[in-house]
Amino acid sequence: MKFFVDTANLDQIKEAQDLGVLDGVTTNPSLMAKEGIKGDAAVIQHYIDICNIVDGDVSAEVIATDFEGIIKEGEALASLHEQIVVKVPMIKDGVKALKYFSSKGIRTNCTLIFSAGQALLAAKAGATYISPFLGRLDDISTDGLNLIQEIRTIFDNYLFETEILAASIRHPMHIIDCAKIGADVMTGPLSAMTALLNHPLTDIGLEKFLADHAKNQ
Ligand code: E4P
Repeated sequence: MKFFVDTANLDQIKEAQDLGVLDGVTTNPSLMAKEGIKGDAAVIQHYIDICNIVDGDVSAEVIATDFEGIIKEGEALASLHEQIVVKVPMIKDGVKALKYFSSKGIRTNCTLIFSAGQALLAAKAGATYISPFLGRLDDISTDGLNLIQEIRTIFDNYLFETEILAASIRHPMHIIDCAKIGADVMTGPLSAMTALLNHPLTDIGLEKFLADHAKNQ
């Protein structure tokens, strides 16, 4: 399972990269705004800065919602760096754009997936990744994990190469559950990733090992 960190914060991206288990980064316009990145030039520089920190794919989202606009913006983003994956919303013109990008060898991440039907359409259009938003489904009292399972079954039935990128991860159990289902990738906050480190028996065990070692000095 690939681990992506879902942030535009360079310090957190560096910390995740230093941990040695990072495979990529996802961003979105809200995450860029949260870091105060304003204006086209600053946004472009920020994507390049992220690519220079992480070894792996970096999703950069288009703002346009019409076919021509998505193509123009996506081509410009893809030309910034070989690690860039163009993030395209799950709308009609987005699906058409996925097909176009696929035919041009430009890698894509279809975002805002909330149903198996949307995932199927995006896979048929040749998306590299599809991003079902697990946490946002859970937030409205529906079963996000069930969607991941449905998409896994469909993609396996037809041997789609599109990777399932479980997004909107909220906590470490989401990561474990997605790994059990067989999601190809998860993207979430650094806190969910580092929470996987923790177990009280590890802390107690280590404390005892160190204390016993100290006794023999
Ligand atoms: C995915 O690429 C999105 O950026 C992200 O996972 C959305 O997560 P949120 O629901 O926590 O905003």
